[in-house]
Amino acid sequence: MRKRKAKILPIKIYGDKTLRRIAEPVEKLTDKIKDFIADLTFTMYEKEGVGLAAPQVGRLLRIFVVDPFWFTEGNEKKPVVLINPKFLEFEGQIESEEGCLSFPDIYEKVMRAKKVVIESLDEKGEKVRYEADELFARVLQHEYDHLDGILFIDKMSKLRKMFIKKKLNVLEKTTNKDGVNIG
Ligand code: NI
Repeated sequence: MRKRKAKILPIKIYGDKTLRRIAEPVEKLTDKIKDFIADLTFTMYEKEGVGLAAPQVGRLLRIFVVDPFWFTEGNEKKPVVLINPKFLEFEGQIESEEGCLSFPDIYEKVMRAKKVVIESLDEKGEKVRYEADELFARVLQHEYDHLDGILFIDKMSKLRKMFIKKKLNVLEKTTNKDGVNIG
């Protein structure tokens, strides 16, 4: 193992154009990409998130990391890294509250599939498959959407989006071209 200290990557805030772009598949799991994954994971924990996708830090790669239970399980960290993920199945529907590190202070209910099956590569480049439900399933769907430039506000009902419209407009207007919110 190479010794290297992970660093915090700046998170792009709503209004940044990168968040709307489609990410490219990872062709080869190079050391550089492994370092990036370590930084992405470190950033997720430092910013107290349960998921973080590469486009959120300005890298248009199909990579995200999730750890939906580290808050509730005594801060025990079990990051799950997904590279070039693909959903195989969706089942049921359930509405629950979501937040996003690219939308500070915005929490709103979003409808998602209740259960999902996802196939992916892990951080070692090995094939993995997860059958997820509840929060795990929700976080996977939320993060996956980031790879396609889809944001949780797109999945909200019109009514719920109306409730937060003012906040969204302010956020969008106060985010600069580097994705930094200066409001
Ligand atoms: Ni998000």
